[in-house]
Amino acid sequence: MRRDKHLRLLVTYIIFLLAANSFSSLLGEAASEKNTKKGGDQNGDQNVAAVPPAQASKLRYNHYRTTRCSKVESVVTTEVTKRSKRDPTLIAALLRLFFHDCFANKQCDASLLIKKMPKNEKTELHSGSNVGIKGLAFMDYLKTKVVESCNGSNIVSCADILALAARDAYVLASKRPAYPVLLGRLDGMVSLVKDADSLPGARTPINTIVSVFKDAGFTTEEAVILSGAHTIGEAKCKFFNDRLHNFLNTKKPDRTMDPALVEQLKKICPNMTANLESPAFLDQGTRRVFDKSYFVQVTRQRGVLQSDQNLFANAATKQFVTGLASGTEENFLSKFEKAMAKLGNLGATTNYKGNIRRVCSVLN
Ligand SMILES: *[C@@H]1O[C@H](CO)[C@@H](O)[C@H](O)[C@H]1NC(C)=O
Ligand SMILES: *[C@@H]1O[C@H](CO)[C@@H](O)[C@H](O)[C@H]1NC(C)=O
Repeated sequence: MRRDKHLRLLVTYIIFLLAANSFSSLLGEAASEKNTKKGGDQNGDQNVAAVPPAQASKLRYNHYRTTRCSKVESVVTTEVTKRSKRDPTLIAALLRLFFHDCFANKQCDASLLIKKMPKNEKTELHSGSNVGIKGLAFMDYLKTKVVESCNGSNIVSCADILALAARDAYVLASKRPAYPVLLGRLDGMVSLVKDADSLPGARTPINTIVSVFKDAGFTTEEAVILSGAHTIGEAKCKFFNDRLHNFLNTKKPDRTMDPALVEQLKKICPNMTANLESPAFLDQGTRRVFDKSYFVQVTRQRGVLQSDQNLFANAATKQFVTGLASGTEENFLSKFEKAMAKLGNLGATTNYKGNIRRVCSVLN
């Protein structure tokens, strides 16, 4: 179903959007956590679908600590670590799933994972922005491992599992200590293609990208910082081959791309018709490592997607790219972590209708 014809649009921009609270205010909330009641432990049975739509305003760091699922974090970490050793592409896939899920309807509610709606309405997965998205089967697997670790209880939402898996993916790629993740999300019950269609693509103009982020509550700087996830991303030839062979119908390469990079990428994408599905790394410096190298590449006219290079062509975003490229790794990574935390809080205050899905890809 993900391969629907009209999916051919754009795509692979990993983009994400935003929320409301800053990381520090989130930490403040954690401090007052003691007063709140424990999570879904009261009902250890399989069917917690009746949890009322209490919401993310109630997210807290140790949401599951006193439940049968107190080990959820270590279970997710173990499984993500194990699987990504076998399949290193899982890391970028999990970050993309998280970003696209959160950005689509501005809720981190795992709605992206839903394969089928009751009346067969087209879902987020049908959107061009989600063509070729990976990791759905892994999320279903992860859910079964979490339920097992809870002695069979369905207490942890797929939305929380995804937030943790994305954090762990980032930690594995950056080798940074794990940052804390607020938990207690509910799984959404609606997935609509139109929500995902607004995600930026590889050829989306910079102003549109910035405004999509802004609509989600992110600053221009945060839009640039989150774009930094492309440091571990890949894109298929069809999303940038025009820049190598026929930019704006000039039959010439994009002059804003380093000629050496043009030649290098031509080996993967020889012309406008061959190898359209072949992937290239978006950070040609340090590929699967999560670092500031992506920004350094962009300042050297070595961004692969037009949307990457445009960050350096626009005055409003260029200053941030320059700053991130010349700053320390710590500078970029700590900012990225704050932006991720903010992203993860999307939907936290909207009181959407939700439950705890038994299978992440299927509505209860
Ligand atoms: C799971 O069930 C086993 C056997 O009944 C019990 O020993 C164990 O403490 C339970 N674990 C949790 C987390 O409830
Ligand atoms: C494109 O490249 C492929 C692989 O090198 C080659 O077989 C094909 O003939 C080329 N097509 C055109 C139109 O040049």
